[in-house]
Amino acid sequence: MANKGPVKVGIIGSQFEADIHAWSIGAVPEAAQVVAVASPTPGHAAELARRYGIPRVFTDYKKMLAEDDIEMVTITAPNYLHAQMTIDIANAGKHVICEKPLCMTLEEADEMIDTCKRKGVLLLYAEELFFTPKYVKAKEMADQGAFGKVYMVKQSEKHFGPHAPWFWDVEKSGGGVFMDMGCHGIAFCYWFLGRPQIKNVYCQMNTYVHADKTRGEDNSVCIIEFAGGAVGLIEDSWARRGGMEDRIEVYGEGGVTYADLHMGNALPTYSETGYGYAVEKAPSTKGWTYPVFEELWNYGFAQEMRHFARCVRGKEEPQATGEDGRIVQEVLYAGYQSAGTGRKVELPFRAEGVKTPIELWLKGKAQE
Ligand SMILES: NC(=O)c1ccc[n+]([C@@H]2O[C@H](COP(=O)([O-])OP(=O)(O)OC[C@H]3O[C@@H](n4cnc5c(N)ncnc54)[C@H](O)[C@@H]3O)[C@@H](O)[C@H]2O)c1
Repeated sequence: MANKGPVKVGIIGSQFEADIHAWSIGAVPEAAQVVAVASPTPGHAAELARRYGIPRVFTDYKKMLAEDDIEMVTITAPNYLHAQMTIDIANAGKHVICEKPLCMTLEEADEMIDTCKRKGVLLLYAEELFFTPKYVKAKEMADQGAFGKVYMVKQSEKHFGPHAPWFWDVEKSGGGVFMDMGCHGIAFCYWFLGRPQIKNVYCQMNTYVHADKTRGEDNSVCIIEFAGGAVGLIEDSWARRGGMEDRIEVYGEGGVTYADLHMGNALPTYSETGYGYAVEKAPSTKGWTYPVFEELWNYGFAQEMRHFARCVRGKEEPQATGEDGRIVQEVLYAGYQSAGTGRKVELPFRAEGVKTPIELWLKGKAQE
């Protein structure tokens, strides 16, 4: 394998997030280069390859893993496949970028981390909010003392529901919106506050508008109490009409800041006819809309991929790891348990025999 020049990357998956990874790596050509893509549906990988000039295409990701020159592989497949894919990639001696959430269970998280350690490869957890320029700026200001002692951090992400059928199937996704987007908020609050110990988790959730489609929750509110007293407040929804919302609020004894990821990077627009594309999950481009410029850059995806590639070259220390993903996983368990019992759940928390985190909520609901 080469140990200089752009890191050679293979992508598993060819749809929504694969497109984001391909674009993002293409935006940092000095750091990384996509050389292969693997996806099982005939034609899909080839289509992504055509769009981004990716030279090699596979329908079986294991065949892609046999390619000697590939140094790092990104997983953009459904959640229930993350653990096995990570283990296969590590066993092939390649570094792993795993999309959020890390996996389905804590046992899987442990096995992923152990296997990557044993094989001497990096397990990089793709939490782009650690690289989102607006949020990075807020953290820099907090770390410089701009807000005094921070006592509450809030992150929320909301839209009207995901784009692919597997998200609605809890056997494949592991849960509803809390699993899908709450994982961002948990990681964000933990990272923003400097990774303090997590004391307890309280969560409320329900299925308000999509009960015809899923057993998963489509709205969740989660409160995390950290050692030192700060609180994380995480709101997520698949029930929110009107397109995508992603924002944070930071409250300290000496100040406050608010960041709406899309609004400050958008053009308030009115159009009778509509136009090509506004922003992720926008239901329409007619009437009043808020198209975002440099959407993926403003989210930090390219910066995230550049960082991961530089970690492979030993130029930077990983800032988003399997261990971060494991902590998120533990909070997901605790959150579903809390929603199922109506009580705060103290950490460490580990439930045995769980296949999907959402079971912990569904069990409690069934007993109501
Ligand atoms: N970081 C983010 O903001 C973000 C955004 C969207 C999705 N994601 C994550 O990315 C992952 C993929 O989500 P998506 O939205 O791209 O889903 P998607 O349904 O759009 O794409 C999933 C891809 O996985 C492929 N796949 C399915 N089974 C496979 C197999 N056995 N082997 C290889 N490939 C297989 C599918 O063919 C498809 O190409 C999920 O874990 C999701 O949570 C992250």
